[in-house]
Amino acid sequence: MKRVQLEIILGTVFVLLSAAIMIVLGIREPQRLADYEVQQRAEEIEFGASVFVTNCTRCHGTQAQGITGIAPSLRDNHFFTQRIAEVGWGAGLEDYIVSVVTTGRQVSTRPQLYVGGGTPAMPTWSEKFGGPLRDDQIRAVAAFIMNFEPYALGQVPTVEPLLPVVDESTPEGRGQVVFLQAGCNACHTISGLSTGTIGPVLDGVGLRAATRVEGLTAEEYIHQSIIEPSAYVVEGYADGLMPQTFAETLTEEQIADLIAFLLTLQ
Ligand code: HEC
Ligand code: HEC
Repeated sequence: MKRVQLEIILGTVFVLLSAAIMIVLGIREPQRLADYEVQQRAEEIEFGASVFVTNCTRCHGTQAQGITGIAPSLRDNHFFTQRIAEVGWGAGLEDYIVSVVTTGRQVSTRPQLYVGGGTPAMPTWSEKFGGPLRDDQIRAVAAFIMNFEPYALGQVPTVEPLLPVVDESTPEGRGQVVFLQAGCNACHTISGLSTGTIGPVLDGVGLRAATRVEGLTAEEYIHQSIIEPSAYVVEGYADGLMPQTFAETLTEEQIADLIAFLLTLQ
């Protein structure tokens, strides 16, 4: 075979091969796009879970199950099947969630059942109206709540618990709930639970607490950090940032539970 002929044959094979690869990739493109969308939605839901833990659990409960007298469940059958008709909302449920979260709720529509934080019953969340959340955070938290739908409709037996599951029969478990309800999460990061950045990360605090102040056990140091934050100020942080009022706003029992929980962070 002549060299030129060989080059023509090789060239043709190469072109045909490239075309075949393009066709195969082209056929797989819709599937790839669909996979990508599922992946994106999963990431959004996970992000929404962290937004929820930081901002919503103190009223709607640690698992979005609601708290009697305070705020409704966002994961029950009634919420997914009847709620938007009840309030006369014309569009879909996800839009309803985005809308309510964006503007907040001045007065509860069910004041005999849920009083929330008083007036407003639920604060405005959108930064457009002076709240703390960006649009993408609000969309993510709505995606997170929508994630409960198949479970609420009984289509699947359980949902993967994206939120940390707590055992409220133990002091540590109750302490984790107090941590969220007292708003400690707004300033302190604990991996998998909260994302606050104003105060020190509390991962490992159960260990380092024993060596923070000479003469204080880990338990005594954490107790002091909560009720008298200025007694010892962690290096690199300003004094007076952490509220000085927890001794009055929390009960002895809540403080003991909080300490039990923080001691588990080794
Ligand atoms: C201060 C307490 C409080 C906090 C914090 C709070 N909510 Fe609410 N939320 C309420 C109350 C009270 C209602 C009104 C219930 C009613 O109108 O019957 C409500 C209503 C809602 C509704 C509509 C529920 C329905 O059945 O109509 C959604 C959705 C919602 N909240 C999501 C959130 C999200 C997401 C967060 C966190 C970003 C959040 N809430 C934080 C108290 C709170
Ligand atoms: C407004 C922000 C803010 C809130 C809310 C807050 N803290 Fe703090 N916290 C800080 C800052 C800032 C420091 C570091 C300065 C200091 O030591 O006072 C700190 C320090 C601590 C320390 C010492 C950490 C270490 O590494 O030694 C502990 C423990 C602690 N906080 C627990 C809590 C608990 C529990 C709550 C809720 C009851 C809470 N904090 C609420 C800002 C906050």
